[in-house]
Amino acid sequence: MSHAPTSLDALRQRAGSVLMHTYTRQPLSIESGHGVWVRTDDGRELIDLVGGIGVNVLGHAHPAVRQALSEQSARLIHTSNLYFTAPQVELAERLVATAFPARVFLCNSGAEASETAIKLVRKWGRSRRGGATGMVVLKGGFHGRTLGALAATAQPRYREPFEPLPAGFVHVAAELDAIAAAAGEGIAAVMLEPIQGETGVVPLPDELVAGVRALCDERDLLLVVDEVQTGMGRTGRWWAHQHAGITPDVMTVAKGLGGGVPVAAVLAGPRADVFEPGDHGSTFGGNPLATAVACAVLRTIAEERLVGRAARMGEYLRESLLSLRSQGVPVATVRGRGLMLALVLDEPIAAAAGRAALGSGVIVNAIGDSVLRLLPALTITEEEVDEAVRRLGEAFAAVRAEDAS
Ligand SMILES: Cc1ncc(COP(=O)(O)O)c(C=O)c1O
Repeated sequence: MSHAPTSLDALRQRAGSVLMHTYTRQPLSIESGHGVWVRTDDGRELIDLVGGIGVNVLGHAHPAVRQALSEQSARLIHTSNLYFTAPQVELAERLVATAFPARVFLCNSGAEASETAIKLVRKWGRSRRGGATGMVVLKGGFHGRTLGALAATAQPRYREPFEPLPAGFVHVAAELDAIAAAAGEGIAAVMLEPIQGETGVVPLPDELVAGVRALCDERDLLLVVDEVQTGMGRTGRWWAHQHAGITPDVMTVAKGLGGGVPVAAVLAGPRADVFEPGDHGSTFGGNPLATAVACAVLRTIAEERLVGRAARMGEYLRESLLSLRSQGVPVATVRGRGLMLALVLDEPIAAAAGRAALGSGVIVNAIGDSVLRLLPALTITEEEVDEAVRRLGEAFAAVRAEDAS
């Protein structure tokens, strides 16, 4: 069945009546996609530098994803976790091979992975740390929208409407002294994102990540690393914590894992692997369809050497963005790693630039006043970067022209 093409205006009106008003959507009705390109209802082709918020690591409609979806859907879609299925076991093996010795719990979203990690920490703390179950989490971090994940997230605007939230989270600045001061009695773990994505692609220095690892070793705490946005090769290593040369005890994975199909995972190293039968579960978690696709995604990233490519193309994109300065674009800096970048502006024009970019045929994600976040597919080519940056230059010129008029 294909859905009849529907104009943006008609769709917006219908959505207003039937969808909860949880999202501020961009004025685009996207009907199809291919690689880094998407096509709208009115036939426009845009370069997608947001990639479903870091999900479409292989771009849209990659043959490996399509083949895995079609073959597995013809064989077996869902069984529940009452039985064994081969794709699930293969996915866990493939994940562990890219990361560290661990056992894997499979679920469906980043928030669910965060909840799983929080439960692991609590169980570990009860049995191994004399009942200490608290977690030190970092200001600027984001771990999802469910209650536990929200409690671990610092920004008041996400949290306040939903209080009271579960207790036991201490929010501190992303500084070693502050983390050490908070990691006292009652604390079982520290949780961090190596690059804080939702707050504007803010990398934690490698020395800080390594320092937190050393602190956790010294104080017998678990280190939980949220790689939901930074993982799957995007930063130029399979996992961003690998830049710091450390191994976490627990790692959460989602977004790019299924190349667009919802699937998530939690890896627990030997010290943290404390779940027993009955402790946790998820009806859909690790179902054959999602895990077969995720296996195809991991295999394709390895076969097409996309991790190294993300590092190289990330540098190319960074230099290209910096070159916009020569056209008078107020670029303060480009921060981030690999293909997880933020174009940081000297002026509060991010929202206007994001809107103008749509007009010029490129999709970027405005965060706050002055950040444009870019999370393109790892398959993006130099020619596509050149064209995207040319279109961005056009968009900034349009913003300037509008300001002047
Ligand atoms: C670092 C991080 N953790 C967790 C989440 C939550 O993931 P999901 O939206 O799949 O629940 C996100 C989502 O943006 C994220 O960026």
